[in-house]
Amino acid sequence: MSSFKKSAFITKSYNVSSISQEYTLKAIGSSNIALIKYWGKKNGQIPANPSISYTLTKSHTCSELICSPRKNKTDDFSIKVVFFGKERSDFLPKIREFFKRILPYCLYLLDFDFVLNTHNNFPHSSGIASSASSMSALALCICELESHMGITLSEDFLLKKASFLSRLGSGSACRSIYSGLVVWGAHEKIIGSDDHYAIPYPYEVHKVFHRFNNFILLVDISPKKVSSTLGHKLMNKHPYAKERFLAAYKNIQELIFILKNGDVEAFGTLIEHEALSLHAMMMTAYPSFVLMKPDTLKIIEKVWNLRREQKISLYFTLDAGANVHLLYPEKDIEKIQDFINQELPMYTLENKFIRDSCRYD
Ligand code: PMV
Repeated sequence: MSSFKKSAFITKSYNVSSISQEYTLKAIGSSNIALIKYWGKKNGQIPANPSISYTLTKSHTCSELICSPRKNKTDDFSIKVVFFGKERSDFLPKIREFFKRILPYCLYLLDFDFVLNTHNNFPHSSGIASSASSMSALALCICELESHMGITLSEDFLLKKASFLSRLGSGSACRSIYSGLVVWGAHEKIIGSDDHYAIPYPYEVHKVFHRFNNFILLVDISPKKVSSTLGHKLMNKHPYAKERFLAAYKNIQELIFILKNGDVEAFGTLIEHEALSLHAMMMTAYPSFVLMKPDTLKIIEKVWNLRREQKISLYFTLDAGANVHLLYPEKDIEKIQDFINQELPMYTLENKFIRDSCRYD
């Protein structure tokens, strides 16, 4: 665990005048898929349990933050958001709330007029959570801005601060700052792990987990009936919350062992258990809710049948929605792709899927 102080992230002295005219910062934020899930939080975006994810190599958000020194400074932010070339005032409340949360660490945010120009390389409203990729891209732009105001940030610290800030936008976004396997949340067995920011997974990883495929089957892309924000909140009075947080903590310990020894079957069993535990928490909350759809279950059943019949290493995980992330190593790739192409398209929305992957170097 780490002993890092929050105060270390406050930018105390900076020189706004070193940016005399319009300046554009660019960053890419990746999407990620959790293996051990974060579900439930304490005040200040502190996770109720630690989590581990794979960062995806393809699905990402590209952001440009255009900063112009402000002529008439007020105590409110000046931000315009443009998404796929169109001004989106409906995105503003979320960005303003993010700026409000990070202002104590980035006091210069009131000194600029900002235009945030952003797009995803995965389809808009595709059901893929874009908050992790978009918040991490924005946090990276903001940290980059600091380095143009006379502040020297080491590469390590810049990423750490970007992760710290991203967390305040959307919890799981803090993991998207790093590639590969990423840990967020303090765990006694993981050196350097912290509730305030994510770190790259620090231990040995068997080569089978260096290249993993992630095939995302889109089952439902309509807006979720229950947001993640409300889902996290419902864990506060959940009858099984204590057990769930302990189980996630214990599952991290098990995953450390699995990642080292390369046991793909144990990996698959664990990540499926995690995905179903996440959804079990939703179904047993007060009020309860279900985000899986009949086709989510049909896909899960097909995957289980394939494994029973052919002993193929194909596993699933779910985020807070109906879409299914299939995870599989390189070895059975051809057989698995045939299976996906033949058996699964009818359960997806207009044959929609995203072929992504996870890399650990
Ligand atoms: O970061 P949020 O608030 O969108 O919550 C993410 C929750 C899960 O995706 C379900 C789990 C996780 O760890 O990413």
